[in-house]
This record gives sequence, structure tokens and C-alpha cells, in this order.
Amino acid sequence: KTSMERYRPALHFSADKHWINDPNGLVFYKGEYHLFYQYHPHSTIWGPMHWGHAISKNLVTWEELPIALYPDELGAIFSGSAVVDWNNTSGLQTGEEAVMVAIFTHHGEDNEKQSIAYSNDRGRTWVKYEGNPVVSNPDLKDFRDPKVFWHEETSKWIMSLACGDHIRFYRSHNLKDWEYLSSFGEKYGNHGGVWECPDLINLEVEGEQLKKWVLIVSVNPGGPNDGSAIQYFTGDFDGRMFVTDQCESEEKWADWGRDFYAAVTWSGTEQPIWIGWMNNWQYANQTPTAEFRGSMSIPRSLSLENKEGVHTLIQTPILSDEMRSNTIFDRQNGSFESLTVKVPEQPFMVELKLNNLSSFDILLKGEGGNLRVEFDGASQEVRVDRTKSGLVEFSEHFASVDAMPLKSFQDALLLVDKASVELFVNGGRSVMTESFYPTGSINTLEFKSSLNEPVEYKQIGVQSFSL
Ligand code: FRU
Repeated sequence: KTSMERYRPALHFSADKHWINDPNGLVFYKGEYHLFYQYHPHSTIWGPMHWGHAISKNLVTWEELPIALYPDELGAIFSGSAVVDWNNTSGLQTGEEAVMVAIFTHHGEDNEKQSIAYSNDRGRTWVKYEGNPVVSNPDLKDFRDPKVFWHEETSKWIMSLACGDHIRFYRSHNLKDWEYLSSFGEKYGNHGGVWECPDLINLEVEGEQLKKWVLIVSVNPGGPNDGSAIQYFTGDFDGRMFVTDQCESEEKWADWGRDFYAAVTWSGTEQPIWIGWMNNWQYANQTPTAEFRGSMSIPRSLSLENKEGVHTLIQTPILSDEMRSNTIFDRQNGSFESLTVKVPEQPFMVELKLNNLSSFDILLKGEGGNLRVEFDGASQEVRVDRTKSGLVEFSEHFASVDAMPLKSFQDALLLVDKASVELFVNGGRSVMTESFYPTGSINTLEFKSSLNEPVEYKQIGVQSFSL
């Protein structure tokens, strides 16, 4: 492989060429998952934003399609969402096919406002609505990233909008005329930076016949390990107002790693599924790839757990069974002080089941750098140390040891691609996504007790993928 393509992900979406950031317009229609994204088609650094476009039938393999939306006299095309307007509430349907409507931010030199575009050919071509913008700017500097869903109970479209330090909610019966409802957030959660890319979703609570509302909010900077990250609030939404059951100072993080941002859910799927941009604004413009820059996370399905009144987001990576081709290592009920497993080059997946939170490291080793995942029973946390993981000097913000608190430990799943690791602990209740840039392939896994005593395990498994 040329050094240029070394960091091309195998399991994750990346554009063939040029810059991408946030996933946009996630919508499912007639067997196709649409993924639009912030795209700069002339450069590998951020610039005048377009909506790039890709589709997938399985959320694993993607086909890139022509650019869907270009900047115009109202401005660049910033982040937003898309819906299928099944009942033609917008009146924009022209043929047999249900009309898809994209709701996005026009980022002009003067200000930000919301506009719509529509497609009558299954998302292949898009026409901007002649009445744009549909929500004009009420004199707010940050006023962007509309995420729209159909609220059954009130038979209305609801829009969540990021407004600097709070989220505003609007509603509409036709996707064109919007009425302001309420706002949430000045006093809640993390305000280390600007709020972006909201999503209000209704999630099933595991083991209960109940659903609960969750408000997703990206914040940049302010993340628990610095820079960009995603927080969430659990609560209620009555069609007008979101009310959280959290106290003001409480922070809930969807992902404790440095590289999971701007994630939102697909519209129109049975189970909520989201995908994020696997990057951090602190160094996104400097990552050492050549022809392309930026990639998406693995898509993850979402649910919620209620433990004594505390609701926790659960994320499960979407990996088809056919992908998991090859068991490289599988051992039950043993112990290690040090255990070495040879692995083929990434991607691969490591699964681990233990009885409790022991103190040990998993080292991902290669000629071109080592990534260390440290489970620490004493301080009750897991850390990802990427200080010696390969190329780290492209940004002063990159070389880091990032930590996530863990009260207990049952299992972990590590998904390792060419330039990323996604760590799902305790069935996806604690998650960390980190990018890294080794200058050669990872070829060895080392499990190592960090105290002078054996670590007992229920299972250690390693699998490779075929794609
Ligand atoms: C989040 C974000 C959005 C904005 C877009 C611009 O990463 O800053 O708020 O719409 O990126 O590319």
C-alpha cells in the first residue's frame, strides 16, 4: 500500500477524495441508507461547505454519489437533516416516489438561517425550495444544524436547532412554515464551547414497556478529554418543551474519546441508529492523510438503560455476521500475566469478558507505533494512551492519554481499523472513540497484567473481517 492510502479505513466510510466533516441528512428510504456529509470538493481542509452523498444497503459498504447540494447566494450548506415526507405535507411531491426533504443551514456572510431542498427521485437529485430561507435569523450568531422528525402525538414536524448555548425547538405542519416553541439548555450540561448538531430522539428503555426522550448535543470545545465531544440529556418532550430529569451540573457523555463528534440518528429506521464524524476540531485540519481527510464512525444502534432512575445510553456497533470471517484467537476461562496474540493487519476486533475490573493493559503493537488501552481497577477508569501510537506531532493537541471512568467491568469490545479504535465497554454503556496513525500495521496484541498477579478472564476472542 502506498503511504498515501495507509490510513484509508476498511470498516468506516471515508470519501474517495477531499475533506469531510459532520454526517448530514441521514435518512432511510426503500432499502437505502443515505449518508450526506459536510464536504469540501476542492481541498482536504475545511472550506465552503457542500453536501457530499453516499448510500448503503447494509450500513457497511458505501457507494459515493454525486454532490447533492452546492453553496449558493444564501451561503454555504452547513449541517442538517432529511426526512421522507410520506404524506406530502410539503406539497413538494411531483411523481409516484415519496418526496425527500432536506433541512439545512445556509451559512451566509451575514448570518445563519434554515432552508430546505427536495428530491423526487430517491435522493438522486435535489432542488432548493424557492421560498428559502424557511427559518430566518432572529439575531443569533450561532443558529444552525436543524434536525427534524415527525412527532406522532401532535402530528407535527419538530425541528431542534443549535443556538450557541442552547437548543431551540420549532414546529411545522408542512416543513415550510415554522413556529418557535421553546428552548432548553443555558443552565444545563457542559458549556465549555458552542453547542452544535442537536438531535431529539425517543428511545426504548431496556426491559421496560416505556420510551424516554433523549436530547443529543455536540459541544466544541468542552469534551471530557478536551475538544469536541457529544453530551446527552434524558427527559421528556410533550411536543412543545423538553424537560430534563438531570440536575443542572450533571454531564452525560455519549463517548469519552477524542474522536466522535456531530453524531445524529437516521430518520426512518425501526431502531434508532447513529453515526458520527470520527475527528476532533482541535486537529481535524491537520490529520496526516493525503488524498482524503476525515471519516465516519461505525454506525451504532441506540437504546437506553434505567438503573435506579439513572438513564444511560447504550451503543451497539453495527457489524454484519458475514463480515466476521475469521477467528484468530478464542479462549475461555483462563488467566494471564502476559499473553501475546499475533494478528493480521487491521481491521480486527477484540472481545474480552472478565469477572470484575482488574488492572491490565491491552497493547496494540506494530513496527510503526503502539496504542495502549489501560484498564485500571484502582482508579476505576480506562485510559487510551496514544502518545507512542505513530504520527502524533502534526498537532500539539493530538498526543494524549484519555480517560473514561468505569465503576465496574464485565466486557469490552475493541474495533480496530487502520487509523482508529472504538472501545465499547459493558455492552456499550461506556464508549470511547480514538483515532491514531501508526506508520506500519499493528501485528501483535499483548494482554498484560499491570500488578504482579494473574488476571482472570471468562473469554478473550480476536476476529478479523472480510469485506
Ligand atoms: C459541527 C459544525 C456544525 C456546522 C458544520 C460546518 O462540526 O461546526 O455546527 O454546521 O460543522 O461544517
